[in-house]
Amino acid sequence: MTNRQKNETEKATAAAMKEASRAAASPYRPRYHIMPASGWLNDPNGLIQYRGRFHVFYQHHPFAPAFGSMHWGHVVSSDLVHWERLPVALAPDPAEEEGCFSGSAVARGGTLALLYTSHSDRRDPKEQQCLALSRDGVRFLKSTANPVIPRLPANAGENGLTGDFRDPKVFWDRGCWNLVAGASADGKGLALLYRSRSLTRWRFQGVLCQSDGTQGSMWECPDFFPLGGRHVLMISPMNMPGHKNLFLIGEYDAARGRFSPQAQQEADFGHDFYAAQTFETADGRRVLIGWMDAWDDVFPTRADGWAGALTLPRELSLDSTGRVRTRPVREAELLRKNRLIDFGFRLIHHSAGNISEITGDSLEIALSALFDDPSCREFVVVLRASPDGGCRTELRYLPQERRLTLDTTRAGAGRTGTVSVQLAAPEPEKTPGLRLRIYVDRCSLEIFVNDGETVLSERIYPARDALAYDLRAVGGDCEMQSVAAWELEDIWEPGESVPGTAKEGLVQNA
Ligand code: FRU
Repeated sequence: MTNRQKNETEKATAAAMKEASRAAASPYRPRYHIMPASGWLNDPNGLIQYRGRFHVFYQHHPFAPAFGSMHWGHVVSSDLVHWERLPVALAPDPAEEEGCFSGSAVARGGTLALLYTSHSDRRDPKEQQCLALSRDGVRFLKSTANPVIPRLPANAGENGLTGDFRDPKVFWDRGCWNLVAGASADGKGLALLYRSRSLTRWRFQGVLCQSDGTQGSMWECPDFFPLGGRHVLMISPMNMPGHKNLFLIGEYDAARGRFSPQAQQEADFGHDFYAAQTFETADGRRVLIGWMDAWDDVFPTRADGWAGALTLPRELSLDSTGRVRTRPVREAELLRKNRLIDFGFRLIHHSAGNISEITGDSLEIALSALFDDPSCREFVVVLRASPDGGCRTELRYLPQERRLTLDTTRAGAGRTGTVSVQLAAPEPEKTPGLRLRIYVDRCSLEIFVNDGETVLSERIYPARDALAYDLRAVGGDCEMQSVAAWELEDIWEPGESVPGTAKEGLVQNA
């Protein structure tokens, strides 16, 4: 780095620190979700439990609240819900690359290794896989062996490979390192499989799996993992309208390095979910975190100097019908402060919901409704409503059709609309009710339905006084078996306003 570049970096860093105070004061600043101290965040990267702490990295532009020169932001936690900022872990080398794109982390002996995509539109090839290493889990040095995978394989067995080749996800399996990366050929998404003993020299094994022609033109952020005796390939397909992030569930032939999907499932039905990644905790749980936005979003928080947030960590499991269930990790309960309400009652049709104790912008609401009156046509949960009701989000459920609709058309600023999900028929021995666990943060909703059957993530930007909640039964009554709500903690307070940040990370890396 020249002196001039160093000066420029320092100036930009000082500006980022100033932006961080502005972002901390943003009325939309999440209270318990991972967000950038300032600037831009997209994909979660490098999820790992390393020396007892959980590390989350993320795609980050420290100098503007918009996609740009991609760095790796970094936070750590000892319990998956209370996060602390660490210095930026990776910065692009201005001579070599425009961005350090998405990737993953593994622990090799005592070393924490990050595998990421070096991206530059000015270089051919534009995407190469690279390695960075750290002994303390804080400072990372790029490997002198970079790029560890310099180009797409000549023998990929595919014509028409584009230059897209990114988002390496590494895992240990059968005595060696395995890496899956996303690619694109002939208008179809692909997941390529590599193996290595060293992390620096990789051998191309073949195409792990490819789109059947309906599953998008490029598979971003592929992740491959065992779950409940099967295997799941999770992908973020580009150009697959109406779909964001899919679980492909099937069988893995490890000897041939081929995965055969047998079922496909949406990882999240909300509009704001993409580029999710998983990792395995020391106690054997498969935990997922996603980017809680979408590329086509409007980002009202840009005006406050920041944009982008990650979902709560979620635990995945496979149920007896072979579907993936997604529940908030049990540690999410640590965020509960005071309980606002916990009781059951009969919800009489057309009357108010009797839950005025529930108020605020940082809540967990858990409810269980039973539809024992056949004349009840609709059940509505009103969220983040302003005193005059002009601003509000509605979750509407049609019990007979088992259809759930999230309506954000009057939610406030940002992109708004409706999204609908068809819920599965209940298993014969289970009660045909609706169970919801709703996480409200200042500018987001995460709605977990029927013990993880479905989840919807949505960013909303309501008016500041939109803090009320209500329930409604239409046409008939319904039985609220239980309604509980807790106010949740603000993990970034007090004083956790500043990036800790960029300066060290930027200088160390260049
Ligand atoms: C997914 C993605 C990745 C890429 C990263 C760049 O959202 O496009 O494929 O590595 O974002 O920030």
